[in-house]
Amino acid sequence: RTFETFVNEPNTDFEKGSEVKALQRAIAKIKKDLPQQYPLVIGGERIYTDEKIHSINPAKKDKVVGYASKANKDHAEKALQVATETFKSWKQTTAEERAEYLFKAADIMRERRHEFSATLILEAGKNYEEADAEVSEAIDFLEFYGRSAIKLESDNHDVKSIEGERNRLKYVPLGVGFIIPPWNFPLAICIGLTASAVVTGNTTLLKPASLTPGIAYKFFEIIEEAGLPDGVINFVTGDSSEIGDYLTGHPKTRFVSFTGSKDVGLHINEIVGRTAEGQIWIKRLNAEMGGKDGIVIDETADLEAAAQAIIDSGFTFQGQKCSAGSRVVVVESVYDELIEKVVDRAKQITVGNGEENNFVGPVIDQKAYNKILEYIEIGKKEAKLVLGGNTGDDEGYYIEPTIFIDAEKDDVIMQEEIFGPVIAIAKAKDWEEAIDIYNSTDYGLTGGFFSSEQSRIDQAVNKMHCGNLYINRNITGALVGVHPFGGFNLSGTDSKAGSYDYLKLFSQGKLYTQKL
Ligand code: NAD
Ligand code: ALA
Repeated sequence: RTFETFVNEPNTDFEKGSEVKALQRAIAKIKKDLPQQYPLVIGGERIYTDEKIHSINPAKKDKVVGYASKANKDHAEKALQVATETFKSWKQTTAEERAEYLFKAADIMRERRHEFSATLILEAGKNYEEADAEVSEAIDFLEFYGRSAIKLESDNHDVKSIEGERNRLKYVPLGVGFIIPPWNFPLAICIGLTASAVVTGNTTLLKPASLTPGIAYKFFEIIEEAGLPDGVINFVTGDSSEIGDYLTGHPKTRFVSFTGSKDVGLHINEIVGRTAEGQIWIKRLNAEMGGKDGIVIDETADLEAAAQAIIDSGFTFQGQKCSAGSRVVVVESVYDELIEKVVDRAKQITVGNGEENNFVGPVIDQKAYNKILEYIEIGKKEAKLVLGGNTGDDEGYYIEPTIFIDAEKDDVIMQEEIFGPVIAIAKAKDWEEAIDIYNSTDYGLTGGFFSSEQSRIDQAVNKMHCGNLYINRNITGALVGVHPFGGFNLSGTDSKAGSYDYLKLFSQGKLYTQKL
């Protein structure tokens, strides 16, 4: 498996009744064995603690998916010591050996993909397509980073040898990494953050998001089944207040890989910036954070395509994507026409359990539910509600797709990440003003521009300040190796997950020169 031959994993075709049935069988099978118990795993040792994190099915609040053990500081300290010790042997392995574990894990996941999708449906509230696409992305990360690591090791990175001297630049691992994924892509991002660190020769402490420990544990089980040596990934679920800052601030932590909200990312950034007693390096932080992503539409755009992109970007997975298109800015001459098309489409959306493959499922938990409803109340004061705004069946955390129009640039609903099925639409006098409105946030993750004028598109590419800009299409669903992903400004460190260069973030360049 080489870098050049990487191709993205195809998604399941749910037009086929047989695939739908296979996924439904997997859901039924997983449900039979719930609730599960998830241990800590430190150096291969499974530890079940008395204190537990409860993982709940957001579509059925009274159903517990599993109980994850809670690590305390002693567990965290032990895991760090194990990871530090394991690093001594792991860093001596070749990229090819390390990549082989990722490839084996990818093969296992490919074989059992519906089981992983079923867990995502039951634990995170995804529907079939969203869960299935996440499994494909997870396989892609394993395949892509495996291949990239082999290339990174054999590459000479354009370093020249001169007469009488042979020069080599190689990338060597950093040390122990603290891995902190979010709950919204609890399989793909969890794997992306962990696999990239491990395949470049680092050892890790993986602290899964507390809302989704079950799917993270499934990943741990398959990488273990693939034969990964004990201690390379240490699985430490626990409260952030107990072990989060402790591990980030620990002198033996060499780097932190975080994906999550702006506030937590900035908090971690502050701790990473301190030098603990006994620490002999400057810690590295890769922090990918939130977004207030938007789509700009000019009067020459294909409005049918734009309306569909707004629906797909704003409402898939209930708007709970960092890439979600929660703002739309439309040129006034097509404003009313576009809104009509968007609202017509949104009215067709079904809201309900992902198990029945509804387009919009539950939001993740009570806290998110309350927060989104508060934003809807703010929106009612700031703009005009034209669709939704209500809750759904209260056996789960359901909120209707909600659309506000006549929002203004500085409104709260145009500035703050809501992370729910809520879209705010604003009017601009022309496409240039629309881009100014798009740019006026603290974030800069994804953006979209709809136009049929190439000269405007070229200018939009220069002017729209974001890490991932999509022209005439939806703004979510970055593909590994195809759309390297990462944001500007307070959306993060722009690490570009899913690119070859990403692996250098977990490595340090070592130049050596040999006199001939
Ligand atoms: P969050 O910031 O609440 O939590 C993220 C992770 O950090 C979780 O695992 C949480 O347990 C952990 N955490 C919280 N406090 C910590 C601390 N003090 N020390 C160590 N770990 C700590 O975010 P979330 O609610 O899980 O995820 C949603 C957010 O993630 C949104 O803002 C979304 O935009 C963002 N996100 C960004 C990207 C991206 O690539 N930019 C991708 C997915 C999600
Ligand atoms: N990488 C995910 C997307 O592009 C977050 O939607």
